[in-house]
Amino acid sequence: MRLLVTGGAGFIGANFVHLTLREFPDTEVTVLDALTYAGSRESLSEVADRIRLVEGDITDGALVDELIAGTDAVVHFAAETHVDNGLADPAPFVHTNVVGTFTVLEAVRRHGVRLHHVSTDEVYGDLELGDPARFTESTPYNPSSPYSSTKASADLLVRAWVRSYGVRATISNCSNNYGPYQHVEKFIPRQITNLLTGRRAKLYGSGANVRDWIHVDDHNAAVWRILRDGAIGATYLIGADGERDNLSVLRTLLTLLDRDPDDFDHVPDRAGHDLRYAIDASRLRDELGWRPQHTDFEAGLRATVDWYRSNESWWGPLKADVEARYAERGR
Ligand code: NAD
Ligand code: DAU
Repeated sequence: MRLLVTGGAGFIGANFVHLTLREFPDTEVTVLDALTYAGSRESLSEVADRIRLVEGDITDGALVDELIAGTDAVVHFAAETHVDNGLADPAPFVHTNVVGTFTVLEAVRRHGVRLHHVSTDEVYGDLELGDPARFTESTPYNPSSPYSSTKASADLLVRAWVRSYGVRATISNCSNNYGPYQHVEKFIPRQITNLLTGRRAKLYGSGANVRDWIHVDDHNAAVWRILRDGAIGATYLIGADGERDNLSVLRTLLTLLDRDPDDFDHVPDRAGHDLRYAIDASRLRDELGWRPQHTDFEAGLRATVDWYRSNESWWGPLKADVEARYAERGR
């Protein structure tokens, strides 16, 4: 299969490329990535001679058309992804997430190419703390932030292109990923690298907010399952029953890094901070037989800490700029 992976130099996309070459070595992989601040050639250096990496923008209609004309399927990861950045400056989120997805859709429509669109559980808004409810495929869209509203817009474009033009697309909405190659702006890598560089860990608000953590390889295995066997036009939720509040994740990280579990700073809360996400992945489990492999969250965090310890050359050059940006925002 000839596969185009948009955003393949980002966190989940790069892990997807690695998993693809491990599990499906006959796949011909082309990565299209603008190499924004969030993308990194180094994340693909180990497989550089086995893939084609095209540096380009998903809103570049001519380039996207040319690449999609020569492929069998597209897995679309490229996006602006950090909620805090979207609050500070939403324009790139509208451009990449909405116009970019529109550009990909028009090209797959012209060339009859199969598309899998990667999205987020944040399109559903948030749940109350302590509520037994979880998101399902029929939960109404109710996004809270510029990031989640642009991802919701993209999902709706995909649904409309399936219905109006017969585009062969599927959508997945996944919960919070963790694992190697995640940018140090995100919660888990930020805390690990703060502690490794003598900075203090930073918790937004009270830390009661709950995220539903999944290992990135479990997410990507689900994406492959959907790409191969998913029903055209269907949406699948991806989650691994990993609900944890931020305070307990932070305390686990502090303990793994031999610190006092209370040795962190409370910093001002995020505007409109979603309280809780939780995924009911029954459809994916029942219809496609997917099961997560990384079910021990603490073991997964330990391996992630080890990865960041061993790969300072990957994240070190990014760290000072990210922390300068946080400092400007008082966090
Ligand atoms: P990331 O920010 O680490 O990577 C995004 C990649 O997209 C980068 O390589 C960047 O260079 C590229 N990119 C950005 N704008 C582009 C453009 N205009 N043209 C081409 N490339 C561009 O993001 P991630 O965490 O790997 O997320 C990947 C996808 O998964 C996103 O669509 C995101 O919404 C979705 N998602 C993420 C999570 C999560 O926990 N991280 C959970 C569910 C869904
Ligand atoms: O749910 C899926 C989403 O998960 C993805 O769609 C997004 O692309 C991804 O960034 C992530 O969004 P979150 O906002 O949940 O992730 P983030 O890593 O920014 O923050 C996780 C939680 O930790 C959130 O409640 C805010 C909090 N936080 C974050 C940072 C950076 C802190 O307490 N301290 C921090 O320093």
